[in-house]
Amino acid sequence: MLIFHKTEDLKKQLLRERQTGKKLGFVPTMGALHDGHMELIKASRKEHDKTICSIFVNPTQFNDPTDFEKYPQTLQQDIKKLETMQCSILFLPSVEEMYPSGTALLEQFPIGSLETILEGKYRPGHFQGVCQIVDHLLTIVEPDTLYLGQKDYQQCMVLHRLLELRTYKQNTKIKIVPTLREQDGLAMSSRNIRLDTESRKTASQIYRCLLNMKSWYGKLELEEIKIKVQEDLTHHGFRVDYAEIADALTLQPIKKYDPEQHAVALIAAFINDVRLIDNLVLTDTTTDSKVSN
Ligand code: PAF
Repeated sequence: MLIFHKTEDLKKQLLRERQTGKKLGFVPTMGALHDGHMELIKASRKEHDKTICSIFVNPTQFNDPTDFEKYPQTLQQDIKKLETMQCSILFLPSVEEMYPSGTALLEQFPIGSLETILEGKYRPGHFQGVCQIVDHLLTIVEPDTLYLGQKDYQQCMVLHRLLELRTYKQNTKIKIVPTLREQDGLAMSSRNIRLDTESRKTASQIYRCLLNMKSWYGKLELEEIKIKVQEDLTHHGFRVDYAEIADALTLQPIKKYDPEQHAVALIAAFINDVRLIDNLVLTDTTTDSKVSN
């Protein structure tokens, strides 16, 4: 695996790859890689000649400085995992490399209400930060396909919007890879490392609640479903930010059940000081076909 720290070196290498007709798959990450990330690498390898992974803990997407400081960093293990998965190229830039003029005056992207609902409401500025870094990385890598994990459902919708905004990026399509789960249903996440034994056990309740939401959808009133889930999670010791049923594309809350509407259930909740998010598509149509470019 080739490792690049400098944008210009990476660009030169990618130009060579493209000139010899290679198709490029790109997996942007913030490191602390787990099997969920490996699924993204696997999917990219299957469909492309070269897979590029980036590891960069992006400061502009952390609204909470403590979260940024505590973000797990496991670089040596990450490199080993990527090598085992036969990832072709790792991009490992510094903050100065990505933001040479600092982070104060970065572009703001018109992503509409996606910015202020659900995650956007609880993490102000987060999605602007995600757009800033992913826009920058896409400009450097210019991949044929950008691979994203469905666990960060709203991020997938935001980045889909970003690609619509950037006409020059229309050669890049998005592929959303389904969430990989632990045996008890907990969605794999870099943040899971921070769960203590007791919290780790409790954390699987989130998936159980999502499954309940799916089984109640169309049978109970939507408000009733949301209240039941919030009470259930609170009872298990969570502090709930939201348990919502939303349109699967716009993420606007659904007020009334409509069997024709593509819907997703989303939960964000703290267990102790660890914030977990997860989601489950409630209707059968696959997410991929709806959101790919
Ligand atoms: O999902 C993540 O790990 C990050 O938000 C991303 C897409 C790598 C941007 O920093």
